[in-house]
Amino acid sequence: MKCSWKLVFLLVCICLAVQYTAIRSIHDCVPGPYHFSSLWQQGSGKDHSLKSFYNNNSVSSNITIVPARKHILLFTQTRSGSSFAGQLFNQHPDIFYMFEPLYHVQQTLYNYKNHLGKPFNRVVQVVNRDLLFNLYTCDLHFLEGYIHPEPKNHLTVSLFRQSSSQALCTPPVCQNSKKEIMKAQPDEGWCQKYCRILNLTLASMACQSRSHVSIKTVRIPLISHLRLLTEDPRLDLRIVHLVRDPRAIMASRITTFPAEFSAWKIWNATGKQPPSMDLTEITKICQDMEDSVNTGPKKPAWLHGRYLLVRYEDLALNPEAKAKEIYRFLDVYIGDKVLNWISQNTNDTSTTKAKYSTKRDSKTAIENWRLSLNFDIVETMQKLCKNTLDLLGYKIVQSQVELKNISNSLVEPKTFN
Ligand SMILES: *[C@@H]1O[C@H](CO)[C@@H](O)[C@H](O)[C@H]1NC(C)=O
Ligand SMILES: *[C@@H]1O[C@H](CO)[C@@H](O)[C@H](O)[C@H]1NC(C)=O
Ligand SMILES: *[C@@H]1O[C@H](CO)[C@@H](O)[C@H](O)[C@H]1NC(C)=O
Ligand SMILES: *[C@@H]1O[C@H](CO)[C@@H](O)[C@H](O)[C@H]1NC(C)=O
Ligand SMILES: *[C@@H]1O[C@H](CO)[C@@H](O)[C@H](O)[C@H]1NC(C)=O
Ligand SMILES: *[C@@H]1O[C@H](CO)[C@@H](O)[C@H](O)[C@H]1NC(C)=O
Repeated sequence: MKCSWKLVFLLVCICLAVQYTAIRSIHDCVPGPYHFSSLWQQGSGKDHSLKSFYNNNSVSSNITIVPARKHILLFTQTRSGSSFAGQLFNQHPDIFYMFEPLYHVQQTLYNYKNHLGKPFNRVVQVVNRDLLFNLYTCDLHFLEGYIHPEPKNHLTVSLFRQSSSQALCTPPVCQNSKKEIMKAQPDEGWCQKYCRILNLTLASMACQSRSHVSIKTVRIPLISHLRLLTEDPRLDLRIVHLVRDPRAIMASRITTFPAEFSAWKIWNATGKQPPSMDLTEITKICQDMEDSVNTGPKKPAWLHGRYLLVRYEDLALNPEAKAKEIYRFLDVYIGDKVLNWISQNTNDTSTTKAKYSTKRDSKTAIENWRLSLNFDIVETMQKLCKNTLDLLGYKIVQSQVELKNISNSLVEPKTFN
């Protein structure tokens, strides 16, 4: 008997908590610039019940509120050139850019398994999606449940890659007034050292004061997981899907994370695949990429007008033109600051290379992976990834000689959107 009373009490508590969160979320999404439009949203599909609810409750029957705020998602996979692509948003003075906030969710739920001991992917998906919603509505406090150590009084020193988010490392969020360290940006931890403490309330206010929000993630495997966000009338989600030749992704991962890829190092050095090697990493890269890319062109109503496919290689070869295309898709003015950043950072022939550096000679860098990957690995990958390579216009090589002859590009010209 006692037990069931406890259960009832618990249920009531959960109920209240859920309601509180829902009310808070709706309340928090109100700030930000809005404008009136006679259309709900360009290209939106069938009437969605939430949309018609909002329509019915707006000022008049044929005027609806469309948020002018754009919610930009840089959707990609690890080592696909997203540090570089992310700068196109990070450098924009009207955009609040966050670099991989979902990292904290992954760290927290990593060991979360269902009763069969399998990873609880569905729960992770839902948590990621709901956190994205709260971040897009500029409530960074919702990150607190996932940051370790747990923030106290909305203060933290442990936000992942804070240095990659310009808005979090400059006033008013960063209150250090000494300017000289800013210029040098010595390493990935510079911002934490320099600004010392991050006040998440202040960060949320800084987010609200900017016109648009952009988030980069490599932690959502499929574009279909974003459907609820694209359908939510409180958001104007625009997905920039960044892809890269999977062979180049693999080469980059082996170099960047040598400990995790020691078997690959052996394979690369000997030209022989070590026995019982796990190839699911490759299959997953390619299958996820293929599934998401295939969702785009089908133009389901929930994605219509909200999806842009960008090959990293095209961006690196023609950064200015591609950046302009991306901003046209976002319906945001690109501005001089982004254009200046591009011209200063895509034309550097110096040899300094940091792991996550975005300053490099992007034109010659894109096919360098061919020199650092054994043909045997490439051949295996080509078998496993044939569809993905064909779909995205990445040429298959038949021999060691063809692989190593960089003067013949493997990137075929292709238009997608
Ligand atoms: C909104 O109004 C339309 C037409 O007046 C009606 O068909 C629809 O059921 C209403 N939706 C909601 C959620 O009240
Ligand atoms: C709805 O739009 C029509 C034509 O654009 C206009 O004549 C009418 O007054 C509008 N109705 C309301 C309630 O604003
Ligand atoms: C964090 O910033 C908010 C907003 O400026 C301020 O009210 C609050 O006192 C700050 N917190 C701390 C601990 O300084
Ligand atoms: C890149 O560098 C070359 C040679 O230094 C120069 O001629 C060219 O104008 C530069 N391009 C850009 C976009 O800055
Ligand atoms: C693979 O081996 C080649 C030749 O031995 C070497 O140059 C390259 O750096 C290696 N690549 C990686 C990713 O370790
Ligand atoms: C690389 O390919 C080009 C064009 O097909 C060819 O002219 C050149 O001889 C090749 N180089 C080598 C080293 O095979």
